[in-house]
Amino acid sequence: MNAAFDFTGKKVFVFGGTSGINLGIAEAFAERGAVMGVASRDPEKVRATVARLAECGRVAGQTAAPQGYSLDVRDPQAVADAISTFAASRGSIDVLVSGAAGNFPAAAQALSPNGFKSVVDIDLLGTFHVMRGAHPYLTSPGASVINISAPQAAIAMAMQVHVCAAKAGVDMVTRTLALEWGPQGVRVNGVVPGPIDGTEGMKRLAPDEKSREAVVRGVPMRRMGTPRDVANVCLFLASEAAAYVTGAIIPADGGWSVAGARLDS
Ligand code: NAP
Ligand code: COA
Repeated sequence: MNAAFDFTGKKVFVFGGTSGINLGIAEAFAERGAVMGVASRDPEKVRATVARLAECGRVAGQTAAPQGYSLDVRDPQAVADAISTFAASRGSIDVLVSGAAGNFPAAAQALSPNGFKSVVDIDLLGTFHVMRGAHPYLTSPGASVINISAPQAAIAMAMQVHVCAAKAGVDMVTRTLALEWGPQGVRVNGVVPGPIDGTEGMKRLAPDEKSREAVVRGVPMRRMGTPRDVANVCLFLASEAAAYVTGAIIPADGGWSVAGARLDS
């Protein structure tokens, strides 16, 4: 293993880490020896993830048991309590990943105020709650935060006004706290997944074969991504190899966000 990507003993907490892309991120850190914490709403998903990460850790020689918390990131007190419980036994947090999110396609005029608010509350306020709760424990040299963004943060997308607004806000939280926390030695970066195969997000946005094919045609690399494609960028951002990288928002999208990159129509 490349020494820069050895996370043995590093404390890594992934919010929303119990399925899809974020689970892939949690697995990648656990496979490299990290001491893991994860949180999401569904206790059964949390339980299954803890078991899965324990297996990854066992293979990597990590004996510290992963910790799982069932909570809603819209509840700042629940978020703060989980983080302080994790840090009480683990000491500090080296890598914080904020990835909990909600999405569904809806035209603006058909979206209720509460529908818009729900997504903004989960994605944007949730990211703020997670970062604010973790800040006292981001004390190790090299500590860093990775916020999971989306192409909608920068590219207007029909049926996605709630997600565009929420993720644009997430990117500005990333940049602003990179500025505020840089002097404390805490790096804050974002990762923008492209269309990632088999995930809840893609099932909701491209539910049939025709729409999936249209998505793939728009990706210069001509394939959907995998959770591991996103996790690899997170490993880099959390590693010493990225020691001078902060405030960056890096796509892992096969070039999807590059306007005009299509080779044919
Ligand atoms: P997913 O499997 O639904 O993952 C979302 C995770 O967040 C789950 O673990 C979910 O678990 C948790 N979660 C949702 N609402 C929550 C809440 N209120 N409080 C706490 N946890 C909550 O979706 P995904 O498609 O892999 O997406 C993962 C991330 O990648 C999201 O940030 C998304 O915006 C981003 N992204 C995805 C794609 C894609 O192609 N899928 C593309 C661009 C960006 P519970 O249900 O147990 O709460
Ligand atoms: N179209 C329009 N409005 C919708 C909707 C849809 N498909 N799905 C939910 N809403 C609205 C609801 O009608 C409700 O508004 P109302 O009170 O005015 O009726 C509001 O959104 C909240 O819905 P609710 O089901 O109570 O929210 P929740 O907090 O239980 O769940 C969601 C949050 C809606 C984001 C849900 O889809 C979710 O949990 N998503 C997580 C998984 C996910 O989205 N993964 C992909 C990540 S990219």
